[in-house]
Amino acid sequence: MARNAASISPTAHYTGYTWFAHGMSHPALVTPQGRFMHTALKPLRGLALVTGAPTLQAFLLARHRVIDLLLSQAIAEGRVSQVIEVAAGLSPRGWRFKQAHGDKLHYVEADLPDMAQRKRDLMQGAGLLTPGHEVVTLDALTDTGPASLNALADRLDPQRGTAIVTEGLVNYFDTPTVVAMWQRFGRVLNRFPEGLYLSDIHLHNANKGVGVQAFKVVLSTFVKGRVFLHFDNEVQAETELRNARFALAELHAPTRFAGQLNMTMHPGANAVRVIEARTNKPRID
Ligand SMILES: C[S@@+](CC[C@H](N)C(=O)[O-])C[C@H]1O[C@@H](n2cnc3c(N)ncnc32)[C@H](O)[C@@H]1O
Repeated sequence: MARNAASISPTAHYTGYTWFAHGMSHPALVTPQGRFMHTALKPLRGLALVTGAPTLQAFLLARHRVIDLLLSQAIAEGRVSQVIEVAAGLSPRGWRFKQAHGDKLHYVEADLPDMAQRKRDLMQGAGLLTPGHEVVTLDALTDTGPASLNALADRLDPQRGTAIVTEGLVNYFDTPTVVAMWQRFGRVLNRFPEGLYLSDIHLHNANKGVGVQAFKVVLSTFVKGRVFLHFDNEVQAETELRNARFALAELHAPTRFAGQLNMTMHPGANAVRVIEARTNKPRID
């Protein structure tokens, strides 16, 4: 079942403010809703810091930075030069990556109509959109029509390695919806010489402790509905991704990248996994 977008969207404002509060975003992408929610949750963050309980912030920052790292590596290795960030919300990634890579990178941010319009207005208003950077309407759950991924892929360069990124999306959809979405992503990415899918995901095995359960309650309240944990473990999710025509699929624990990112992983960081799925197996020369 597809969740009502209106119930998911408030979290985009919260995460948007989180990226800004940690020096990763631009003031133009801060919304009053995001600032308000961030302030409202401050006492909970304070309590968690004192008690060592997991925080939303810990896994939000971990997932964002690990996705950035894997995307940067793919670009540096020449595997990817087109990116579709599906359900981009107020993510600053497109702006940051375009600053770093300029004309070499085509970056498409995509979201449902209201959020896409808002993001476009905010970015245009602040002069943050450069050539090769666009914000479009896209519904990740549809196969046909102008708002489908297929329609977007039709107008991209079929010769360029392409990445799809989803962040903060999959756990709001139930299992059949996620599986169908991954199959859609796999089909589309197989149209390009290289295809990469990066996403965060929460699994049962990493979300068991009392602190994590309490945190799930907070998150579910926050998004006014259930948060779905589709798979018991990494292997199940990897198998489903391979069924969706990804030749290589791996789920990473963020702590694995702490050294590379020079980042302290706070309690809660490992409540999330980062998916790295590729349509081609890496060549061993
Ligand atoms: C939790 S926010 C995450 C935003 C951003 N990726 C981040 O991490 O800050 C979820 C986003 O998913 C978008 N969304 C919900 N359903 C969608 C769908 N079917 N297709 C595309 N975007 C969708 C919402 O509009 C919202 O911007």
